[in-house]
Amino acid sequence: MASITIKDMSVSYNKGKSFVLDNLSLDIKNGEFCVFLGPSGCGKSTAMHCIAGLLHPMSGEIRFGEEVMTSANRKGRDKTFVPPQERNIAMVFQEYALYPNMTVRENMSFALKTKKVAKEEIAKRVDYMAKMLSIEQLMDRRPAELSGGQRQRVALGRALVRDPQVFLLDEPLGNLDAKLRDQVRYELKKIQEQLGITTIYVTHDQTEAMTMADHIVLLKDGHIMQQGTPEEMYDHPANEFVAGFLGTPQINIFFCEVKGNILDAGSFKLNIPEHLRTCLVPYAGKKINLGIRPSDLELAKDKMDVIKGHVESIEPLGDAYLIYVRVGEQIVVFKYTGEHAPKEKELLLTPNMAKLHLFDALTEKRINR
Ligand SMILES: Nc1ncnc2c1ncn2[C@@H]1O[C@H](COP(=O)(O)OP(=O)(O)O)[C@@H](O)[C@H]1O
Ligand SMILES: [Mg+2]
Repeated sequence: MASITIKDMSVSYNKGKSFVLDNLSLDIKNGEFCVFLGPSGCGKSTAMHCIAGLLHPMSGEIRFGEEVMTSANRKGRDKTFVPPQERNIAMVFQEYALYPNMTVRENMSFALKTKKVAKEEIAKRVDYMAKMLSIEQLMDRRPAELSGGQRQRVALGRALVRDPQVFLLDEPLGNLDAKLRDQVRYELKKIQEQLGITTIYVTHDQTEAMTMADHIVLLKDGHIMQQGTPEEMYDHPANEFVAGFLGTPQINIFFCEVKGNILDAGSFKLNIPEHLRTCLVPYAGKKINLGIRPSDLELAKDKMDVIKGHVESIEPLGDAYLIYVRVGEQIVVFKYTGEHAPKEKELLLTPNMAKLHLFDALTEKRINR
């Protein structure tokens, strides 16, 4: 097991004309479940392939613990490069391939056999992992006789029996249906905690990231937008991109003007609460973007800080309702947790003033702490 340190890593597919990863630096703690999150094409797989040793970065350094795996100087010449098979990593991808003519047990034993591990030891490790993954009753079946979720668990088991120091997963649950995905997600997290293997999990799905990660690294165009625990990033998004990427349904954004102690969104006005006044002093008379999460709105109890809107549609979620409300020109999403959906067509909403997110209109960076 190992920590992973990445320093100033850059990757280009066109000899430096443009960079897919640009001076990426990152520390992943020993035993951590780290999620690389971001939209398609932001460089998640590329970063993971560099860590696996499948790809040479143009420059930068990757260490597992103290051991240098890859180190290239600015001219792109490798000073050190440990090949993938010597890095003691295990990988699982979305298109994992089990050996079709082998049983589950043979599939899971294969890598250890080729490493000439003793028979009893192989059986012990395979049985242990099968138990962890609840696939003990499937050991004599072939992949064709398994469901998608079972096959995926075998693929995870096959990777984990090797007792890797780093576990790399690239969108491994993408092929599963929603219910199975939840289940395997839960099991994977549990096993990772028990084994304590440093894990990097690549996904574009914010729910997977929020539910599994100890540490999220949110990427966009090869740059880290923010990293931290799921709670930190959800409660204090560093910029509008992060605010929009984490949380479902998406945060509502309003363009506002700071007028004295009033935030004026045109269609409604809010009194700027005490704790936000200092950080807004430099914005007097200027525009800012105000973020309010759908779950941070509620039905107004008095006439202060009211957002008036017209109900356009209501989606029942079972334990809550998503109510789409037209406010001025804008559709605002309101997550209502009352037992019955409101009958009125006109709603008066009020935000939780402690949970307002303020962003600079130009830089989109967070203003309030
Ligand atoms: N072999 C390649 N040659 C050229 N460009 C590539 C190659 N692989 C990936 N890219 C480009 O690099 C960027 C990042 O890709 P990738 O790391 O696969 O993104 P992600 O996994 O986040 O979806 C994308 O713009 C992609 O088109
Ligand atoms: Mg990818």
